[in-house]
Amino acid sequence: MDALAGMRLLLAGDDRAAVSALRSAVGSAGAVAAACTGDPADVVAVVAADPPEAVVAVGGNVDRLRAALDPLGLETGPEVVAIEEVVDGGGAFGDTAARRLRAVVERRALRARQTELEAIVAAQAVARRRHDEEAALDTLRRLALAAEYRDDNTHEHTQRVGELAARLARHLGHEDRTVWLVRQVAPLHDVGKIAIPDTVLLKPGKLTREEFEVVKTHAVLGARVLAGGDSDLLRAAERAVRSHHERWDGTGYPDGLRGTDIPLEGRLVHVADVFDILVHERPYKESWTVEAAAEEIRRGAGTQFDPDVVRAFEALGAGAWQADERKGVPP
Ligand SMILES: [Fe+2]
Ligand SMILES: [Fe+2]
Repeated sequence: MDALAGMRLLLAGDDRAAVSALRSAVGSAGAVAAACTGDPADVVAVVAADPPEAVVAVGGNVDRLRAALDPLGLETGPEVVAIEEVVDGGGAFGDTAARRLRAVVERRALRARQTELEAIVAAQAVARRRHDEEAALDTLRRLALAAEYRDDNTHEHTQRVGELAARLARHLGHEDRTVWLVRQVAPLHDVGKIAIPDTVLLKPGKLTREEFEVVKTHAVLGARVLAGGDSDLLRAAERAVRSHHERWDGTGYPDGLRGTDIPLEGRLVHVADVFDILVHERPYKESWTVEAAAEEIRRGAGTQFDPDVVRAFEALGAGAWQADERKGVPP
């Protein structure tokens, strides 16, 4: 009879004779058993010094022992088994009781292993998601850089737009993740200009109507490059790129969206982009003063721009309109 071969048990009870009889019975079933009183403090001390696989309570209060051994209820302590659970109606500890005891202890070990595996799987999923996101982010940054080579924009323009759009999002009370996404995707707003011919894109002076229609296609062309992404990062990038020329009154392009039908990313980028273009010199225009550019933003509230975004712009103040870039880490 070796149903308990190699198993380490602690027998806890105040009835010395009963504990001693059980000790020899489990010993002949192959277990190595220590014994102590039924006092929870006593049991906790013995378990801490040399943890058994299970504590067998002999005539004691099982619930009190469980509470003492696992005070946080996390099932981290050893299994506590009442002797009545495995021995039928006051009988002796025999083969059947030994098999039952083994089954109870093994079930517990299995549960613990399962919990451990679930934690490992969850941690791996988080790591994979983080890795995928870093890869997507790297691709987006390279794409933004490629777009900058094609335009009269400098790297600083796209990064300043990213920073100001993120500050507006934060001021509007959006959660950290949204603010971070806006910061990452806003610099891509003109990525579609990669597909606009040089003769139009780099033309000095005023564009004809037809040429302007060609330039306008950059919103859709850029969104097409980013379409079908399976991450919130790519989806946010697609929305920012497609909608950054939509106007609050519905007269923008490419979709003529109105009000809050325009994705948040587009409404934020629109304000940040126009402000930054105005205060910096371009081949076709002089730079405006900060105050004149701010006035232009104010004038556009409710027609060109989301009035809430303009209010946030106003509340941020001039000190925050042109501050250094900060990319931050993904929340
Ligand atoms: Fe644009
Ligand atoms: Fe821009």
